[in-house]
Amino acid sequence: MAETIYIAEGTKEEQYLSVLPQLEALIRGETDRIANMANACALLKAQFNWLWVGFYIVRGSELVLGPFQGPIACTRIKCSQGVCGAAWRNDTTIVVKDVETFPGHIACSSLSKSEIVIPFHIDDVVCGVLDVDSSELAHFDETDVMYLEKFVKILFAS
Ligand code: SME
Repeated sequence: MAETIYIAEGTKEEQYLSVLPQLEALIRGETDRIANMANACALLKAQFNWLWVGFYIVRGSELVLGPFQGPIACTRIKCSQGVCGAAWRNDTTIVVKDVETFPGHIACSSLSKSEIVIPFHIDDVVCGVLDVDSSELAHFDETDVMYLEKFVKILFAS
């Protein structure tokens, strides 16, 4: 695996274009998914410095907290709860411009103002979500959707 991270400057798109090949290099040769998720969070946190970035993993009827970077977070989320539960339940990426307007949003940190949640799949089965929180309103847009969906595809490719 790669042992250093290069922090790119430039537009959001340029930053993602720097991150994706670095993710490939980081996970190359390592098959443990938890280890790869942990380094994936560190890569995203180092590049974008979001408030919180991490994974929730499907365990039965709940999502359970996985590797993350940022403040402590709730450990279990039911399918019916929060942005993460909705993204899992509907198997779709959800962008929340203002968390206060999302019914049932779970506030792990009062500093979180906007959020994006991307489901990830292993062998075509939804197995959890990547959750990212920003301290800025309306921080995430279609560019984040496109590149974070690519990011989880690379990370969870068999
Ligand atoms: N806000 C999420 C909960 C997880 S924390 O943001 C880390 C939600 O509503 O599902």
